[in-house]
Amino acid sequence: MTEALPTIAILGGTGKEGKGLAYRWAGAGYPILIGSRQTEKAQSAVAELRKLLPATVYLEGMTNPEAAQQAGILVITVPFAAHRATLESIREYAQGKILVDVTVPLVPPKVSRVQMPPAGSAAQEAREILGEGVEVVDAFQNISYEHLLNDEPVECDVLVVGSSKAARTEVLKLVQAAGMVGWDAGTIENAVVVEGLTSVLIYLNKQYGVESSGIRITGIPRD
Ligand SMILES: NC(=O)c1ccc[n+]([C@@H]2O[C@H](COP(=O)([O-])OP(=O)(O)OC[C@H]3O[C@@H](n4cnc5c(N)ncnc54)[C@H](OP(=O)(O)O)[C@@H]3O)[C@@H](O)[C@H]2O)c1
Repeated sequence: MTEALPTIAILGGTGKEGKGLAYRWAGAGYPILIGSRQTEKAQSAVAELRKLLPATVYLEGMTNPEAAQQAGILVITVPFAAHRATLESIREYAQGKILVDVTVPLVPPKVSRVQMPPAGSAAQEAREILGEGVEVVDAFQNISYEHLLNDEPVECDVLVVGSSKAARTEVLKLVQAAGMVGWDAGTIENAVVVEGLTSVLIYLNKQYGVESSGIRITGIPRD
């Protein structure tokens, strides 16, 4: 018997990156809850996604706390300025679950410069806010939303770092389901590199006049 896929709540799933991930995972058969500060905004993101996907997909729109309460895995895709408040709003519903943090702690206007928060990284800040009862895993920071809202292969690998190997293994399954190659890149202390790399990629985009540069790991056989 095949195991049922877990329900994924995407907090701030009304935005560019969240909608792209929702498209990929809903298409792969995961039940998806789009979270927002406003129910109506979540529902209109769902309507937009439904137009692009088969009728059989499971997508629902609701507030962030409602989505967090009803899902088995949480994903946060909000600007860093909204990171703390969003996490505080769902803290009680996240306990015992995995939170995939996609947030990059960019500090506008100097977004091509690495500027980490006092906790060390957004992922470590999430762990401080949510507590030891939540597994926090960083992933997708280096994947531009422009690659996600279509079925084209993504030529950028996903580095997965987080608070436990078991949680990283679960998130690697989500990376694969979204059609990307992921690598277990170690503990949550390594989040500084994964999150910081986004500013390097933003710099490369400007420097070389491209839209979405990316990275690929070499030297390890690909299946
Ligand atoms: N865009 C990319 O290509 C990309 C790539 C990799 C990583 N990321 C990271 O992923 C995160 C989301 O990026 P994005 O481009 O998807 O962002 P976005 O579209 O600007 O915002 C995503 C959602 O966050 C919520 N939000 C925005 N401002 C807020 C505020 N002040 N308070 C509370 N909620 C707020 C909004 O949801 P509601 O209004 O519905 O609540 C919004 O739809 C960022 O940390 C970004 O660095 C982005």
